Amino acid sequence: REHDCTGRLVLPGLVDVHVHLREPGMTEKEDFGSGTRAAAAGGVTTIVDMPNTSPPVTTAARFAEKLELVRDKAHVDFGLYGMIDHDNADEIAGVAAQGAMGLKLFMGQTTGDNRCPDDAAIFRGLEAAAREGLVVGVHAENDHILRMLIDRLRASGRTDPRAHLESRPDFIETEAVTRIITLATEAGAQLHIHHLSSAAGLRRLVNLRAEGHRVTAEALVSHLLLDDSAYDTHGNLIKLNPPIRPAGDVAALWAGIDRGDLDMVATDHAPHTCAEQAETDVWRAYGGFIGVETMLPLMLTEAARGRLTVSDVVRLCSYTPARRWSMPGKGHIAPGFDADLVVVDPDREYPLDASGLHSKHNATPYAGWPLRGAVETTFLRGTIVHHDGEIVGPPSGRQVRPRPVPNRGTR
Ligand code: NCD
Ligand code: ZN
Ligand code: ZN
Repeated sequence: REHDCTGRLVLPGLVDVHVHLREPGMTEKEDFGSGTRAAAAGGVTTIVDMPNTSPPVTTAARFAEKLELVRDKAHVDFGLYGMIDHDNADEIAGVAAQGAMGLKLFMGQTTGDNRCPDDAAIFRGLEAAAREGLVVGVHAENDHILRMLIDRLRASGRTDPRAHLESRPDFIETEAVTRIITLATEAGAQLHIHHLSSAAGLRRLVNLRAEGHRVTAEALVSHLLLDDSAYDTHGNLIKLNPPIRPAGDVAALWAGIDRGDLDMVATDHAPHTCAEQAETDVWRAYGGFIGVETMLPLMLTEAARGRLTVSDVVRLCSYTPARRWSMPGKGHIAPGFDADLVVVDPDREYPLDASGLHSKHNATPYAGWPLRGAVETTFLRGTIVHHDGEIVGPPSGRQVRPRPVPNRGTR
């Protein structure tokens, strides 16, 4: 069959390595059907789903249950993360054997109760990951200090959205980045830092790389496009862990993108119900908001503005993540690769219409934003799965397993 692409750009489908689709146990927020429909409509053909569910994916049995639960619901291809907790090193081999894309390590408090703040536990988890050659993706914030600061701010009577930013100053991230890189190198684990958010954290990462540590890092679309002035307009909707920060941090992240110090961009698509997103007490509100469907239009808009090029967008949001996680057939248009393609109209200008989004709940800070660049058609392995806002066909997504790679360690 023919598909007319006159005047369009054809890009490799995006690979979003930081997505929370909430199965099992939190499906009032999102599920694999709704979340992967949002991905397909946004030109994202591979997602990596996070394990901070209810229950969390901490054992081989739970990984098997999750795979069974989601495998027939996906409209795009998906990788699944397992998780490192305080005492599950014995489970890691069984999780790896089922094709886990990696292991998530939450050093600090965030959605779900999955923290692993203890150094000895972290080290045992890193050793187990190293034995299996799995990438460890880390949420790097110092749990003990942020909890102390939350208690202090609460005691002072603060409940406003900015108190969240004050409870997670940049040194909380810098400290955790330093500690996890140090431990991962000693354990020989492959390390990826999710949602690096601060100028100071990025400086530390660059310095540690100069000492010979090997680590990749991602920036979020939200940390690149929003600064703390948005608390006044959006309140707790933009509560995010780590927080939306002052403009100076945002500028440092863009500079990190320009210099290549930040390797990739992801969304941290973290849905909550509209009622939860409207919570006015910052300590009761959840962190995170949706983003998988709006990543490509927002990044194309940045490209149209000249902040980066379209090929930068492809490298940051598709090619590099697919290579980092050794995803066979993903991230590139070339012989031997899957025909995961997205056709975009780079010139179309329109305001972002939140009511057309495919997630279960459509609260987004980007509603009404002027966009330039629209996703028209999405192909998954050669078949159209989305056209002009409509999902096409039954779920045809498959599990993506990382190609086994020799673990060269982190030095
Ligand atoms: C994420 C979520 O809701 O699952 N929330 C967030 O604020 N980023 C969890 C996470 O990525 O830390
Ligand atoms: Zn996180
Ligand atoms: Zn996340």
